[in-house]
Amino acid sequence: QTVEAFIRGLPKADLHMHIEGSIEPQLMLDLAHRHGMRLRWDTAEALRSAYAFPNLKSFLDLYFEGCKVLQTEQDFYDVTRAYLRRAHADGVVRAEMFIGPQSFTERGVPMESLMGGVLQAMDDARRDQGTSSGLMISVHRHRTEADAMAVLDQIMPWAGRIIGIGMGGAEVGNPPSNFAGFFQAARDRGFRITVHAGEEGPASYVREALELLRVDRIDHGNACLDDLDLVRELAARRTPLTVCPLSNLRLQVVTDLAQHPLKAMMAHGLHVTVNSDDPPYFDGYVTENLVACQSALDLSVPEIVRLVRNGLEAAWVTREERQILL
Ligand code: HPA
Ligand code: ZN
Repeated sequence: QTVEAFIRGLPKADLHMHIEGSIEPQLMLDLAHRHGMRLRWDTAEALRSAYAFPNLKSFLDLYFEGCKVLQTEQDFYDVTRAYLRRAHADGVVRAEMFIGPQSFTERGVPMESLMGGVLQAMDDARRDQGTSSGLMISVHRHRTEADAMAVLDQIMPWAGRIIGIGMGGAEVGNPPSNFAGFFQAARDRGFRITVHAGEEGPASYVREALELLRVDRIDHGNACLDDLDLVRELAARRTPLTVCPLSNLRLQVVTDLAQHPLKAMMAHGLHVTVNSDDPPYFDGYVTENLVACQSALDLSVPEIVRLVRNGLEAAWVTREERQILL
C-alpha cells in the first residue's frame, strides 16, 4: 500500500478552505461561458499555468478576479457541490468552508443567491454522499471594520446555518486589532471565530487574534513560532491551528516544504491540522498536502494519524456528531 493510498483512505477533515478558491480551471471557464464573459485565458491549462505567485497579494489579485464568474445561485451551488465531491473522493468526511461575501455583494450579487446555492449544495452532499460540512463567513481585513459589520448584519437571517466567522485577505499592515469591535460583535451574536494570522504577518498578529479577539482557532499561525511564550499559550489552550502547507509553499511563505514549520509546531505540542486553503490554486486537496509533507518532512505513520485526528477533533460539530467522527 502506498503512502498516498493510506492517507487518502483515512477519514479526514478539511477545516480551512475557501469556496471561491476551490473553482477548478475548467469550471471557471464554464461559468464564464455561462455568463458570456471573456477571461484572459481560454484553456484550463493556460489558466492553471497562471497559478504562479510570488506572495499572498499576487494570489489574492487573481483569486478576486476569479470571483467574477460567480454570479447566480446556480454558480454558487455548482462550485460548492464540485468541491464537496472532490473532497469526498479525497476521504474528507468533514469540510468547514469559508466564503467571503464582500467579493460578490460589492458587485450586486444578492446574499440570498450566495447563501441559497452554497447551503443547497451542502445539503445535497450530506444526502448523496454522507459528507458533513459547515459554512464559515469570512470578512476582508483589507476593507474597513464598518464593512465587516455590514456583512454581519446581512448574514443574520442564516445565523442558524453558519458555524463561525473568519477573516482573510491581505495580512501585512492589517492587524487583527483593527477588527476587535467586529469580532466582539460576532461573539456576542453567538458565533465561534477564527482568523487568518501569522501567514505572512508576524507573531504579534497571532497574539492579537488570541488575546484580543479571543479566537477559537487560528488559520495558518506559522509565525507563532517566533514567540515561544505565545506558543506555550496556544499549546496550553489547545487552540487549533489550521495549517495549509501547499498554500505556504505556493505563496512563498516557505521556500521549500522541507523548511515547513509543521513538524516543529507539532513538537511544541500545538494542535496542528493540515488543510487545503484554495486547492486548484495551490495544486492540492488535503491528501496531496499530507503526502507532500510526509515526503518532505519524513512524517511517520503515527504523526500522520495525529495530524488527521487533530483535524477531526478541531471540527466545529455537535457532541453527537463528534462521536461519529472520532
Ligand atoms: N490568506 C488570506 N486570504 C485568503 C487566503 C489565505 O491563505 N486564501 C483565501 N483568502
Ligand atoms: Zn485561507
